[in-house]
Amino acid sequence: MIRSALMNVMTAAALKAGRGLNRDFGEVENLQVSIKGPGDFVSAADRKAEKVLYEELAKARPGYGFVLEESGTIEGTDKSHVWYIDPLDGTTNFLHGLPIFAISIGLARDGQMVAGLVYNPVTDDMYIAEKGQGAYLNNRRLRVAARRNMSETLIGCGIPHLGKQADHARFKAEFATVMARAGNLRRLGAAALDLCFVASGRYDGFWERGLQSWDMAAGVLIIKEAGGFVSDADGGQDFLTKGSVCAGNDAIHPQLLALIRAAG
Ligand code: IPD
Ligand code: CA
Ligand code: CA
Repeated sequence: MIRSALMNVMTAAALKAGRGLNRDFGEVENLQVSIKGPGDFVSAADRKAEKVLYEELAKARPGYGFVLEESGTIEGTDKSHVWYIDPLDGTTNFLHGLPIFAISIGLARDGQMVAGLVYNPVTDDMYIAEKGQGAYLNNRRLRVAARRNMSETLIGCGIPHLGKQADHARFKAEFATVMARAGNLRRLGAAALDLCFVASGRYDGFWERGLQSWDMAAGVLIIKEAGGFVSDADGGQDFLTKGSVCAGNDAIHPQLLALIRAAG
């Protein structure tokens, strides 16, 4: 595949930030055993990665706006373009030494996602997509899974953490409903990567609530470009504002959506 100039810019930024995250991830294991723990260290790693991404992208595409997880929204002079950036998706995994985390970069043009990149620097897996151009994992074209029966599926999900107690009851109801029909379930803890696992056919479906725009911006486009179907948990296309997502192929997406809605 030939990469566009835009994708070259995004790839270079992700590789640079990824080198820093990889170095810091190596340190986290040593910090696990210290009394203070790696908490502060990890938030510093997170902020450093965001700074690299911001600087690289702002230099290459001056004027574009930003929605950054750590630094908030930065208005651009170019009102058409906005970057959605999560410099470290899967912070809890990173903190605990689990190599399941990623950088996520999405670009919207006039409110539509036009490019997405999700990069796990430990495995060196880079998922990319541009609108109308297909989705790729390290130069290999991606296609969602072909399974059509819920009973044969592997479905990913997100579990609300302790601080989100208000969401626990609904999640338990949804989990019970999906568990009764799906082959098996997973919770891997990095939403941007979870979405890419649907795009690459590893998961047959995925749903989660309580997400942010930067968790989903890139992954949703990557799934669509891999031939998948994505909606918010109400079946609409407002995931970036509603914070919920449900994904799968043309057969699994409607079945999973129906199960979640029945549980709610
Ligand atoms: C989190 C991860 C996790 C999801 C959380 C997100 P973070 O992002 O994507 O899988 O369940 O809701 O906040 O905090 O690690 O960037
Ligand atoms: Ca995130
Ligand atoms: Ca994050």
